[in-house]
Amino acid sequence: PERAIQAMWDQEPKTLEELNAIIAKAGPLVPGATQAVFGEGPHHAEIVFVGEQPGDQEDLQGRPFVGPAGKLLTKAMREAGIEREQAYLTNAVKHFKFEQRGHRRIHSKPTAGEVKHYRPWLMKELELMRPKLVVALGATAVLALSGKATPITRSRGRATFGPYQGYITVHPSYLLRLPDEATKREAYQAFLSDLHRIHDLAQ
Ligand code: URA
Repeated sequence: PERAIQAMWDQEPKTLEELNAIIAKAGPLVPGATQAVFGEGPHHAEIVFVGEQPGDQEDLQGRPFVGPAGKLLTKAMREAGIEREQAYLTNAVKHFKFEQRGHRRIHSKPTAGEVKHYRPWLMKELELMRPKLVVALGATAVLALSGKATPITRSRGRATFGPYQGYITVHPSYLLRLPDEATKREAYQAFLSDLHRIHDLAQ
């Protein structure tokens, strides 16, 4: 199977559909995922949002950002004037990785090696789309897009990822994990102001 995937890769996918077929055929690096979760949205979207990896809901539905973090992101985007249907949403890693606890599947963070494994596919995805702006949601996306581990607190804001204009902000799941309501509200407002800038940069 490795050789078959390499052969397909060597054929250079010319469309996102061809690329996705390669990713689907390769399967998860770590066993367990139900299916690959591909990017979603218009192929000529001006803004591409890059997350970490699909979560439990995404894995089951086969769509990115449909669980709690995705719902929060979609709401914040809309408040900032970015319709979800006009943007393209994808992930650095295309398969859900988890730890089973009872009947719950707890998300486990992809390793740097896993991010590296998926990186050529993410780069090809961008190359086929040539968006105006690439948004990194959280540290895993920054690592995937830049090849470097960078703390979000120091890199938040405008960036460049290779030939692409970029923007770095927090991952929406970070907002969900904050302990108290006041901190949450403040962090959400900061996220919203990032999204407003993202909206303006893509005009
Ligand atoms: N978190 C991500 O990073 N991606 C998703 O698709 C969902 C949650």
